[in-house]
Amino acid sequence: MAFLEVKDLYKSFGDTKVLKGISFELEKGEVVSIIGSSGNGKTTLIRCLNFLETPNSGEIILDGEQIFPVIKGVKSNKTIGMVFQNFNLFPQYNALKNVTLALDLKADRDFKLRKKELKILNKQIKEYKKQQDFSQEELDKLNANLLELKNTLTKQYLKECKEQNLQEANALLDRVGLEDKKLNYPCELSGGQQQRVAIARALALKPDILCFDEPTSALDPELTGEVLRVIRGLRDDGWTMIIITHEMEFAKNVSDKVIFMSEGVIEEMGTPEQVLVNSTHEKTKAFLQKSLEKI
Ligand SMILES: Nc1ncnc2c1ncn2[C@@H]1O[C@H](COP(=O)(O)OP(=O)(O)OP(=O)(O)O)[C@@H](O)[C@H]1O
Ligand SMILES: [Mg+2]
Repeated sequence: MAFLEVKDLYKSFGDTKVLKGISFELEKGEVVSIIGSSGNGKTTLIRCLNFLETPNSGEIILDGEQIFPVIKGVKSNKTIGMVFQNFNLFPQYNALKNVTLALDLKADRDFKLRKKELKILNKQIKEYKKQQDFSQEELDKLNANLLELKNTLTKQYLKECKEQNLQEANALLDRVGLEDKKLNYPCELSGGQQQRVAIARALALKPDILCFDEPTSALDPELTGEVLRVIRGLRDDGWTMIIITHEMEFAKNVSDKVIFMSEGVIEEMGTPEQVLVNSTHEKTKAFLQKSLEKI
C-alpha cells in the first residue's frame, strides 16, 4: 500500500466541475510536482488534500489511515501541511512568533483535550470500582494512566512544552537560513525570507506530507533560488512533498514524479524524463512549448 493514496477525487464549485476523478499514489519520501495551465484545478487539488476544501467524493488514504471521507468516531492524527503562494504570515508577529504560534495553539488545545480525557478516566475508574468482580490489576493500570495524565496537566508541563516549541522554532529558522532574522516582522523581510519563515512554520507542525502551492511565483527571480534550495534540502532529508510549480527546471531536478493536470484530470503522470522531456501527449507538449515561449 502506498504512503498516500488519492482515489477518484471530485470537486465542484456550484456548476463548475474542477476536479473530475483524480487518482494518484505517492510513496514515503517521494516528491511529486504538479504542473499545468492556469485554472486547471492544481490548487483545488492540494486544498482538498489539506481539507481547506471538502471534496465532493473520492477517498484519501494516508499511511494506511482513511482521512477522507472522515470515519465517524475514528480520530486520525495524520496531517498534510501547506505552504502558500503568498506566504500568509501574521504581520503583527515576528518570524519566531509566526512559527511558535501554531505550536503553542496546538499545545493549548492538547492540554484541553487531556483535561477532558482526565474527566472521562476518573468516571471510568469510579464505575469500574463499583463492579463486584473488578480486577486489582486492571484498576492499577487505570490508576497509572490517570497519574500519567495528571502529570501532563500542570501549568509547569505546559510551560515546558512552550519552551520546547521555542527551541524547535529557533532550530527551524536556523535550518531555513534565517538565524539573524528571527525577531524581524514580515514587513522587514524580503519575499524569499518570508517564504522561508512560512516553510519553517509548516515544518514545525511535523506534517506527514508537505504541499507547496507555487512557492516562488510571488517572488522576484533573484529570490527564487534561496527558497528552491530550502525545498531541495527538505527532499534530501526525506520529506514527502507535493509541489505545484511553474519552474520546469526545478521540477525536473527535484521530483520523483511529475503530474500534468489539464481540465480537472491528470492528463499525464510519470518520471520527470517521461513527462518533461519525452512526453508523447499532445496536451503536455503544447503546455511545455508555451512555458518555454514565456521564458
Ligand atoms: N472557492 C472557489 N469558488 C468558486 N470557484 C473556484 C474556487 N476555487 C477555485 N475555483 C475555480 O476552480 C477552477 C480551478 O482553480 P484552481 O485555483 O484550482 O486552478 P489552478 O490550476 O491552481 O490555477 P493557477 O495556475 O492559476 O493557480 C477555476 O475555474 C477557479 O475559478
Ligand atoms: Mg493555483
